[in-house]
Formats: sequence, C-alpha cells, structure tokens
Amino acid sequence: MTQTKSTHSPHSYDFIVVANRLPVDRSVDAEGNPTWKRSPGGLVTALAPVMENNDGAWVGWHGAPNEKIKPFDEGNMHLVPVPLSDEDVEMYYEGFSNATLWPLYHDVIVSPEYHRTWWDRYSLVNQRFADAATKIAAPNATVWVQDYQLQLVPALLRVARPDLHIGFFNHIPFPPAEIFAQLPRRAQILDGLLGADLIGFQRQSDANNFLRCVRRLRGHSVRGSAVHVYDDAGLPTHISRAEAHPISIDTQRIIDLAKSPKVQARAEEIRRELGNPETILLGVDRLDYTKGIAHRIKAFGELLDEGRLSVGQACLVQVASPSRERVGSYLNLREEVEGLVGRINGEHDTLSHTAIRYLHHSYPVEEMVALYMVADVILVTALRDGMNLVAKEYVASQEDQIGVLVLSEFAGAADQLRHAILINPHDIDDLKDAIVRAVEMPEAEATRRMRIMRRHILSQDVTRWSETFLRSLKKDPTRNEA
Ligand code: F6P
Repeated sequence: MTQTKSTHSPHSYDFIVVANRLPVDRSVDAEGNPTWKRSPGGLVTALAPVMENNDGAWVGWHGAPNEKIKPFDEGNMHLVPVPLSDEDVEMYYEGFSNATLWPLYHDVIVSPEYHRTWWDRYSLVNQRFADAATKIAAPNATVWVQDYQLQLVPALLRVARPDLHIGFFNHIPFPPAEIFAQLPRRAQILDGLLGADLIGFQRQSDANNFLRCVRRLRGHSVRGSAVHVYDDAGLPTHISRAEAHPISIDTQRIIDLAKSPKVQARAEEIRRELGNPETILLGVDRLDYTKGIAHRIKAFGELLDEGRLSVGQACLVQVASPSRERVGSYLNLREEVEGLVGRINGEHDTLSHTAIRYLHHSYPVEEMVALYMVADVILVTALRDGMNLVAKEYVASQEDQIGVLVLSEFAGAADQLRHAILINPHDIDDLKDAIVRAVEMPEAEATRRMRIMRRHILSQDVTRWSETFLRSLKKDPTRNEA
C-alpha cells in the first residue's frame, strides 16, 4: 500500500499508527543536547519500516511522565507525543494495562488486580490517544491501533470519524472466554475492539477466543471471521473481522548484522570471555513472569546437580532486560530469579568458570546478534507469549545453520517454527531432557531443522506481516454495509 502525506491539510496523514509508546528514546548528542534516537524492541522493529515506506505519523507516549512535548519528525516519521502524568502511568500503564490486563491475558500466571480507578484512568487515557489520532487523520485515512493498552481506541475512532479505516493488532495472547469473563468492564473492552474493521491476532486460537467472547458475552452473530455488530437498539452498524496475522521480524537486518565482521568478531570475543565453554546456552527476555525464566534456570541447575551438564563444559547466559520495575509482581520475580542464580552459581561456579552469567541489562541489537551467533542453544521457555520475536531473531542469525532452538509450545512462534524442539516449560523433566537433547544434537539434524525454520523466517518477515494485514484491512468489501 502506498501512502503519501495528504494534500488536504498540511497537518493530516493518510496512515497513522497509534501505540502506547513512540518508537524513540531520548538520548544526548555529542554536544550534550537532548535528542531522540530510534528505539529497539519488538513493536518498533516491526512497524518502523512500514512507517518509513508510507511517510506516516505515529501517535504514542514518549516515555517520561509529566512532560508535554510538541510533535516532531524523526527520519521519515512524524511523531505525535501523548502526555502521561504520574497518575496516568500508575493507573493506566502500570495498573490497568500491566497489573490487570497483562496477567489476565497471559493465563493468570499471577493474579490480575481489579480496581475501578484504574479502569477510569484507562478509559480517559484511551480517549486522549484517540483524540490525538483523529486530529491528524486525513479523510478516509488508515489508522492502525496497537495492543492491549489501547483496546478502547478503535470504537472511539469509529464514533468520532466514521470515514476512517481502522485496524487493531493485539501483540499479546487473547485469553479463552472462561478467563476473559473475569474482567470487570469486559463488555466495554469487546465493544472497543469491535470498533475496528479488522482485529489482528498472533494465533488463530487467539482470534477464536475473541470470537467466542463476542458471541457469548455480547450476543453478536459471528460467521467465520466476521462479527456482525449491532447497536443498543438492535440495528446493524458494521462488520468487524478477527483474523490471525502472526508478526515477524526485520529478517534482513538480522542477517546483515550476522554477516558483519564486527559482530562476528564480537561473537568470538564473547566465547573467549566466557572461558571457551563447549556449549553456550542462551536466554534473552524482558524480566517478565510470562517468560518462564525461573523454570529454565531451575532445569539448568538440576542438570548441573545431576552431573548431566557441568560448569566449564556448559554455560548459560541469561539476559534479563529490566521491565515494569515498579509493578509488584515484577519486583517479586526479580528477587526469585536472582536468588536462584545466586544459589546455583554459589554451588557450581569454579574460579575460572561460571554456571550462569546473568545480565540485568538491555543491549543494542548488534550485541544481541553477537550473542545469538555464539549461542549453541537458545532456550525460549515462555509460559505464555503472544509471539516471541527472540526465537525468530535467533533463527535469522544462524547463518551457519547449526544453532538449536528449544521453544515453548505456549509461544505464538511455535505455530511457525515447528522444527524447534518444542517443550512444555511447566514440565521441568521434559525441559531438562530437551536441553540435553539440544546440547547433544548431531550437527546434521541441527542443520536440517534450522534450514527449514530459516526458510520460513526469510519468506515471512515483518514487511510481509504488515502488508498482509493492511491489504486485508483495505479489501473488506462489506465495510459499513451490514
Ligand atoms: O509484548 C507487548 C509489549 O507491549 C511490547 O509491545 C513491548 O515491546 C513490551 O511489551 C514491553 O512493553 P512496555 O515496556 O511498554 O511495558
């Protein structure tokens, strides 16, 4: 889809992304002036190329509370910052988004908290994002709303601007009706999403869960992927569709980095720095309870206890990037994981080698690719994950095709990467056997599996994802004709 800046007004755009975060981080340039830099991260990596190709605008929070910033340009993108106060961050972001919806949508791994004040703030902030988008949207513009923080925005847009083409993409899982039904204000959330012409999910099972919720909790009629939406008076208003559109990565960027001599040299340096172990196992996650970090560390620790692996022969590098650090369940997780690492290292480290190299940092993508390249085995043991782009990045970075991916069946990526060693991370014995199998896998088998997975990742990159979604959004022939 070719989008150009509208000629209708100097300040309106034909293609707008609305996401909780803007795709930039603040930094300081060589002269000490504050400046903005493109930020890393799944969503940004996924949408930046689309934005650049379409000369679009992006509406989102710039990351600092209590600060009003004027719209500005970064590269080919027009960025519209939405301000959030301390209270907005506490109740809309940390509260309703990340202590209510996040655990609820991830199989209640921790208990969701329900507070009416959080809901009120979530509604208010969603209205603010919707207003910012409607203000800059050209007639008949396409607006693509991203993720669970903004589920009310599609309906708010539809009411304010019925001319818009509205897409929504849910990056995280959508829970089964029996779990979703717990949510106070569940009807408003479903109605919010149904404001979109097309609602995208990572897996078909997520789309099916949503359709079942809509049928059971709203009584709308569902035919295939289409929901026939009615207003309160029982009159048909429009058709909204729910489809699976699994997200991917900027594959070529990872491949180019993997070919770069600088990154290759860094990979070799990392192996030396770790004392040249025979096998490097890697975990890369935000420090989040959905990722199964403790499960993986426990499994690795037991393998050392049992002598099935040994320090010096094997080393687990665990990158756990800081995340949502003021939310209670994240604080608890950090204590649990760091306690486990400390105990295992205390028992198994030697003066020259460590069992687990734990890194509570974020790293630039160059360093991540160097880590992927040096890792003989990567452990993606999520208890529940919308997609997991780390699994796909690892596959893309395996130019030599011999790395082994151990992948949770509860991550969306398992639908596409069927040739990984698929595991149930709750079954620690199964996980331990899978780790040993990965470590001992004959090169021919590892190569065969990796070749098949790479073929998939090469053909299904993030550009393909966005093109497919936007094409489907545009092609809906029944829009507003129900
Ligand atoms: O996976 C959902 C998501 O919101 C991603 O889009 C994002 O990269 C990650 O979680 C972290 O989100 P945040 O730091 O904004 O809470």
